[in-house]
Amino acid sequence: MNIAVVGSINMDLVYQVPHIVKAGETLHSTKHEMFFGGKGANQAVTAGQLGADVNFIGNVGVDVFGEQALQNLQARGVNTSAIKKVGLTGQAIIQLADSGENSIVLFAGANFLVTTEQIQAERSKIEASNALLLQLEIPMPTVEFAASIAAQKGIPIILNPAPAQEISNSLLSKVSILTPNETELEVLTGLKTETDAELYQACSLLVQKGVGAVVVTLGEKGSYYLNSHEHGRIQANQVNVKDTTGAGDAFNGALAVGLCKGHSLKESILYASEVAAFAVTQMGAQPTLPSSF
Ligand code: RIB
Ligand code: NA
Repeated sequence: MNIAVVGSINMDLVYQVPHIVKAGETLHSTKHEMFFGGKGANQAVTAGQLGADVNFIGNVGVDVFGEQALQNLQARGVNTSAIKKVGLTGQAIIQLADSGENSIVLFAGANFLVTTEQIQAERSKIEASNALLLQLEIPMPTVEFAASIAAQKGIPIILNPAPAQEISNSLLSKVSILTPNETELEVLTGLKTETDAELYQACSLLVQKGVGAVVVTLGEKGSYYLNSHEHGRIQANQVNVKDTTGAGDAFNGALAVGLCKGHSLKESILYASEVAAFAVTQMGAQPTLPSSF
């Protein structure tokens, strides 16, 4: 099973703080840790551990973080031959408040230098895959170009529309599975997304625009899914939460693997929910998964 990931690679700089810093305030962090992150890399690492052969197309910086991030991906079995070194490695500066809230300053760096030319040069990696995983931490034209390559070959596209931004109808019409959280779904549709009835309306709108299926990740409330013939809710497993950073990424990586293995949408969501629930019991955005998955 081959999965192509076109996306971002970051270093996550995590600072534990008593509360999220306010404007003009100076705050002592009580604990600092670094983790490998970036939505693309997190999804790739998850899919790889679940048995997929993963080809990554993206960038790291010409710096120490870049070298470390590259080595991490290689150590975790991701094929990095289509990762270029340019500029500065992306960073996510994450404040983790004692309350469990977090806030993120994203420095895109090299991720914003992933070009359509680069995708064109590596298009065979997309064309040889069973699914393409995309997120929105690289330039939108690059995302659109990668999607058009997969669409031409009829390769399923899973798009995680994060961080939240609007998406063209032309891109939406190419997406097999769109995986927003509630906020992202709201941004995409301009509709409220609190109740099941509201989720139904918002997801239906996207399916009318040509999205194959919408899977809304709702954190501890599980997920909601809708395609042209079914819809429903799937409960999250109750676990001892340590760090929810990257939970959505673990979900997306696992969802892609489930679908590539030929499981139904619902079965794949159940599988992805289990993997995501396991991921939040560990610190950092890239889980270490047991082989039993
Ligand atoms: O989805 C979580 C990821 O978002 C983190 O790893 C961080 O890098 C940010 O990009
Ligand atoms: Na985690």
